[in-house]
Amino acid sequence: QSGLITYDPGYANTGSCSSNITFIDGEKGILRYRGYDIDELAERCNFLDVAYLLVHGFLPKKDERAAFSELMNQHSMLHEGMRHFYDLFPDHAHPMATLSAMAVTLSTFYPELESHPNEAIDIMVTRLLSKVRTIAAFTYKKMKGQPIVYPRPDLSYCENFLNMMFYTPVNGYKPDPVITRALNQLLILHADHEQNCSSSVVKSVGSSGANLYASISAGICALWGPLHGGANQQVIEMLEKIQQEDNGDITRVIDRAKDKDDPFRLMGFGHRVYKTYDPRARVAKAICHKVIDHLGFKDPLLDIAQRLEEAALADRYFKERNLYPNVDFYTGITYRAMGIPTNMFTVMFAIGRLPGWIAQWLEMRDGSEHRIYRPRQLYVGPTQRSVDVNWVK
Ligand code: SDX
Repeated sequence: QSGLITYDPGYANTGSCSSNITFIDGEKGILRYRGYDIDELAERCNFLDVAYLLVHGFLPKKDERAAFSELMNQHSMLHEGMRHFYDLFPDHAHPMATLSAMAVTLSTFYPELESHPNEAIDIMVTRLLSKVRTIAAFTYKKMKGQPIVYPRPDLSYCENFLNMMFYTPVNGYKPDPVITRALNQLLILHADHEQNCSSSVVKSVGSSGANLYASISAGICALWGPLHGGANQQVIEMLEKIQQEDNGDITRVIDRAKDKDDPFRLMGFGHRVYKTYDPRARVAKAICHKVIDHLGFKDPLLDIAQRLEEAALADRYFKERNLYPNVDFYTGITYRAMGIPTNMFTVMFAIGRLPGWIAQWLEMRDGSEHRIYRPRQLYVGPTQRSVDVNWVK
């Protein structure tokens, strides 16, 4: 299944665990998936290679790579019955709500859990990795009021997603190789990140015996939060506000971020683990420049983002608290340049994070002592007391 499993049920009680999937050194800014540095993976692999690495524990050989890509094609269609679900969602439905609802509904339309429980997991993993693109693209088409576009067997994983998103019979859209490469790299940057909020939720839900589809659906909801996966959308909204309301002047935003009495935070900055530059942000910044240069336009938001970064990194408040750009600071600018709407940015994060969620769910489930997560608490409430007989008179 997924490589050597060492699993410490300690997490079940305390919240800390051992894993052989992702290594982070927050002080040195190191991120490795199954021992491979993130920048090397982003440079030399495509997203499907990294998804295979996370789920199986090793990079695919040539034949395994071809077989995995073929499996993605075989499972890329959505059950036609699920298509009609889109008609039930109001146009203003948030794409993360649709994504979560569709993920949990897969078990209804694909009951492999009952029909062949032993190999069900392999099929569920493949269905999720492949169909997440189709669900996301169909969601986008529904929002745009455009006809859905079916996946094509002649397109790669990311080409198919871009084509399902942007092709219309009128525009004759063809996936651009530079944009396709950038999307592969951005999804790789998001593919896993140790015990982050949403991965912990996926494992916690799975530890009760809930199926993989249900566990992933819960993780999608956790990622939706603005302090987690929703930050890339918040970054763009912050940059657009600076452009529109402050005429590009970053002073007010920097001052607000430092103001203890102001709940505002510099979105895309800071991290619970990284106390130096997030290695993913460094790669994301280079991808952002490459895409915008390729598209041949000057993006004022990129200019504002760079001035924000320079000002914050030179400011005592941010330096004292080791606050640096995180993965969300530049990714939104690139997605926006690709034509992806801001309310789909967290969906992009979910597509990227899916293999990491799956890998961690498998590791939890295959763990030597798979137990339900039941962390304890420190009780600080009232000591024992009894009901006053006169309390209701
Ligand atoms: C992701 O866990 C993961 O791995 C997540 C993730 C993944 O791949 O799964 O990496 C993805 O979630 C990235 C983070 C996206 N969120 C944002 O960009 C939102 C903005 N960032 C912050 O809200 C914050 O930095 C967090 C939530 C990311 C981390 O917060 P922590 O670790 O709880 O830090 P903290 O709240 O204890 O802050 C320490 C100090 C505080 O000031 P003091 O009380 O010491 O005076 O730093 C300040 C905070 O006020 N601070 C910020 C800040 N982040 C922290 N001040 C201004 N702007 C910020 N962004």
